Amino acid sequence: MSVNYDTLAADYVSYRVPDPRIEAAIRRHISPGDSILNVGAGQGAYEPDGFNVVALEPSREMIARRSSKKAPTIQGMAERLPFKDDSFDTALGVLTLHHWQDIQQGLSELKRVTRGKIILLTWNGDYGEFWLPDYLPEIAVIDVGLFPSIGALSELLGGAVSVETIAIPHDCTDGFMCAYWRRPEMYLDASARQAMSMFSMLGSVEEGLIQLSDDLEAGYWHKKYQSLLGKDQLDCGYRLVVCNK
Ligand SMILES: C[S@@+](CC[C@H](N)C(=O)[O-])C[C@H]1O[C@@H](n2cnc3c(N)ncnc32)[C@H](O)[C@@H]1O
Repeated sequence: MSVNYDTLAADYVSYRVPDPRIEAAIRRHISPGDSILNVGAGQGAYEPDGFNVVALEPSREMIARRSSKKAPTIQGMAERLPFKDDSFDTALGVLTLHHWQDIQQGLSELKRVTRGKIILLTWNGDYGEFWLPDYLPEIAVIDVGLFPSIGALSELLGGAVSVETIAIPHDCTDGFMCAYWRRPEMYLDASARQAMSMFSMLGSVEEGLIQLSDDLEAGYWHKKYQSLLGKDQLDCGYRLVVCNK
């Protein structure tokens, strides 16, 4: 199932602001002076400043909306990286590999062009207490089909692989799928939904969103998911997978 990022690019600018806590978790794996390839770079979220970064991104519109301060960008795909072997110290891919046409080929390319670490933010197939699939069950079916399991991913990466839980803060600034777990009304915001690729893959969401809206108005949502309201962060299945080649 492929997503046309050219049509999502406009709402990304406002709703996909990199979250500083997720940024810090990624930065801990990057060493001073590293040269970095950011694959599926989008508009440059999580690209570390002050490093020698090259970005690679297939969508023309995502590239067009990158700030001029961001790294130089090459239009291309993970499956065919236009770089020589061992060109970079580190490769970074944030919430991108589930969109690739051929994950195995893309990872093989990342391994070819990277000397040191491959850092991937991905999802482990388990939403935990994230509740939106209760209203839109198709979400879980689609995501489970798109994301490789952490075991399969580790095997494809080979080498020494570490896996770190990235819990999502209740006020996460980056509006990806589970970001609004404690702000349910955000899923009723059409522009916020437009910045999440999942909503371009779903069939009709009307019924589920009307139910959510009704439940919020009636106070049922707050009653049913009360246990979430006192939490500051939630494990929704996001994992930082780091491979040391
Ligand atoms: C969810 S966005 C993430 C963008 C950025 N990394 C971020 O964190 O904001 C996924 C990105 O992967 C890109 N993408 C899709 N297919 C790809 C492929 N085969 N190779 C590389 N990037 C791809 C999309 O164009 C999109 O920009």
